[in-house]
Amino acid sequence: MYKLKTSVIKIDHLTKQHEEIIEAASLLKANEVVAFPTETVYGLGANAKSEEAVRKIFKAKGRPSDNPLIIHIANQGQLEELVTSIPEPAKKLMEVFWPGPLTFIFPKSNGLSETATAGLDTVAIRMPDHPVALALIEAANLPIAAPSANLSGKPSPTSAEHVYKDMEGRIRCIIDGGETGVGVESTVLDCTAGVPMILRPGGITKEQIEAVIGEVRIDPALHNDEAAPKSPGMKYTHYAPNAPFVLVDGSTLVLQGLVDKKRKEGYKVGVLTTSEMKDAYSADVIISCGNRDDLGSVAAGLYEALRKFDDEEVDFIYSEVFSREGIGEAIMNRLTKAAGNTILEVNDI
Ligand code: TXA
Ligand code: MG
Repeated sequence: MYKLKTSVIKIDHLTKQHEEIIEAASLLKANEVVAFPTETVYGLGANAKSEEAVRKIFKAKGRPSDNPLIIHIANQGQLEELVTSIPEPAKKLMEVFWPGPLTFIFPKSNGLSETATAGLDTVAIRMPDHPVALALIEAANLPIAAPSANLSGKPSPTSAEHVYKDMEGRIRCIIDGGETGVGVESTVLDCTAGVPMILRPGGITKEQIEAVIGEVRIDPALHNDEAAPKSPGMKYTHYAPNAPFVLVDGSTLVLQGLVDKKRKEGYKVGVLTTSEMKDAYSADVIISCGNRDDLGSVAAGLYEALRKFDDEEVDFIYSEVFSREGIGEAIMNRLTKAAGNTILEVNDI
């Protein structure tokens, strides 16, 4: 069905290769889809004003049409065109965290594709902190709708190779700007009414936001399966590797016991752990996603680790849990979703 020729443009030194940015921007202006690096994960970008362009994103990802996209901008002037007002807390936070991994929900103005915002009267906007992303948006001189550049349901891409694997033949162009830094997506924050609420935990932590504006809540639906989350994307099982993924709240011994049982049944079993514990397990595939005492490194390595289990074609994956402090909230949110919203709590044996 898909037969596009996907070109990959490598950008090492932005200023020297500016021609390539102009070329990619002209594809965006022609309503084609271009994948590009941001500081969080790779995005699948298209002209947010064009229905035709935005539909191509949904088709390439296989994304449900009720899940709105984040609009990416490169300067404050673009923001004013897209929204009818800017809530006070958002003004303060933008000064501190933009460009950066913080997305705000705003009351929507006219001119954006209805498909991009899934027909809502609000719009999610962020200014990414990546020189390639900013140069591309500036050159296109358009608001760019960009979900993470993975197939819907798969872990988000943190390298151009991940994007190529999911999107080859489906989009016209991938800009390879190396590995992303933060590794999990931006925090989505709604300050349009009442106490500001985190709809998706991400790169900017609750603690960081509270230090600027005071009390912030996390959408209770994210910790409770019964209520519907306010961010449409959070209701889908996401970020999941192919094999069943089991999040184990228990000791190393407990986790090893679960692994042994499956291996005795003849299955190929993987363990997701950190550098501190990786030599403590015996399993078919053991992957460390970072250092437990530096949760930033776990966030940066998480999606790459989940994708490796697919490459290794394991039958089951058992994973350790993490503290929900700081960026741990985002890590646990993604891992819990990969595990189908369940955590296996096992007392010591
Ligand atoms: O870091 C990121 O945010 C990455 C990079 C590429 O910028 N983008 C990203 O986009 O993660 P995506 O489409 O994978 O996730 C967007 C999230 C979804 O959970 C979606 O439901 C939510 O933002 N969202 C978008 N518009 C919304 C709105 N008006 N109200 C509530 N949630 C919204
Ligand atoms: Mg996504």
